[in-house]
Amino acid sequence: MTDGMDDGTAGARANDGGGEERFAELSVKSMLSHQVATGAFLASRDFAPYRFCWLRDGSFTAFALDRAGQREAAERFHRWAGAAVAGIAPSVRAATERRLGGGANVASSMPPARYTVEGAVETDGWPNFQVDGYGTWLWSLSQHVGHWDAGPLADELSESLELACAYLEAVDLDPCFDCWEENGEAVHTSTLACVYGGLSAGAELLGRETAARKAGEVAEHIVSRMRRGGRFAKSSADGSVDASLLWLAVPFGVAGPDDAAMAATASEIEEGLQMDGGIRRYAADCYYGGGAWPLLTAWLGWYRARAGDLPSARRCASWVEHCYDTTGRLPEQVGGETRDPDAYRSWVSRWGRPAADLAWSHAMYFVLWDELQRPVPKASTNERAAAPPLAAMHLTARAGAPHPPKQTSQETLDQRGGP
Ligand code: BGC
Repeated sequence: MTDGMDDGTAGARANDGGGEERFAELSVKSMLSHQVATGAFLASRDFAPYRFCWLRDGSFTAFALDRAGQREAAERFHRWAGAAVAGIAPSVRAATERRLGGGANVASSMPPARYTVEGAVETDGWPNFQVDGYGTWLWSLSQHVGHWDAGPLADELSESLELACAYLEAVDLDPCFDCWEENGEAVHTSTLACVYGGLSAGAELLGRETAARKAGEVAEHIVSRMRRGGRFAKSSADGSVDASLLWLAVPFGVAGPDDAAMAATASEIEEGLQMDGGIRRYAADCYYGGGAWPLLTAWLGWYRARAGDLPSARRCASWVEHCYDTTGRLPEQVGGETRDPDAYRSWVSRWGRPAADLAWSHAMYFVLWDELQRPVPKASTNERAAAPPLAAMHLTARAGAPHPPKQTSQETLDQRGGP
């Protein structure tokens, strides 16, 4: 760190990048350590502003844990999310009905992006009106149900699933804050991809025809209205690229990895948003100096693996591996303090040092690592249909157990004496 502070990223370059399985195990361990008794995942344990559960971060973490064979942990998250949504049922219904009746969205009273770990809504100045998490949650649950044949869980949570799905149907193409919690006036392409994923999942889980129809409309809108100059654009108000556009291909499958506009988008993300081998969120980002994000670099690797470019995917994995510190933490971002020291310092004075260990970073590294164990054939673009063999199967095959219970990676780490 240039300013002499050690926020955990200082040891980031200490690893040699050669021990992929060890990093995968560290990430499973960290994800599990972010889950509290209620089933919620703290976005980060060590960064006070992130001691909440975001549907977005939590849903991707549950997805990664499913791929790690951690069925119970993922199930506990989905039960928690179902209860959180059921707990605010009147306001979800009111928002849905208001919108269906032609009324305007009222940002301050829309279902929140993040909850306390007890499932309560925190009323503070945070821009909470973000639609993507509800889509991502439905998608993640549908993945869980598909992976584990867990239909009864979907039945158990059906009231909350209906609420979330009807809400997405009502606000489908509306402006809201983006996945970085900014730009509340625009319609964001990656948010629409999450809405598409959620509506498709809702159609399948609940048999809702309206959801299937709306999913088709959202996909059509993305393809016909959210492109600029041969590639996808960040939003209705911003024609530049944002790394979250990768979500269109993986996991939501709005565009296949080989789709020309998608390939052009990924190339521009790789060229325009790269910093020392890692991927930044968007060009003008200055949050904690606007460094490179391990989770987005892993996402690019996931995309490259799906596009059949394994060397690029491995390079992304290797870059992320160099971001783990010597205690196994994986930060939200690296390098912001040197890229824009003033912006970095101004965020530090506001909120303290940035998140040195982020559950979502671990989740996306694990997904990439898992993907690299047995790449999915290039033609597959539907995540559910193409559900790759769980990495846990590899770990389990060696361990000789039918499912890797929670202790498996923990025991492995214990045996190896930790990081
Ligand atoms: C990011 C969000 C994320 C949250 C918690 C914010 O800085 O912009 O995407 O959900 O942190 O990790």
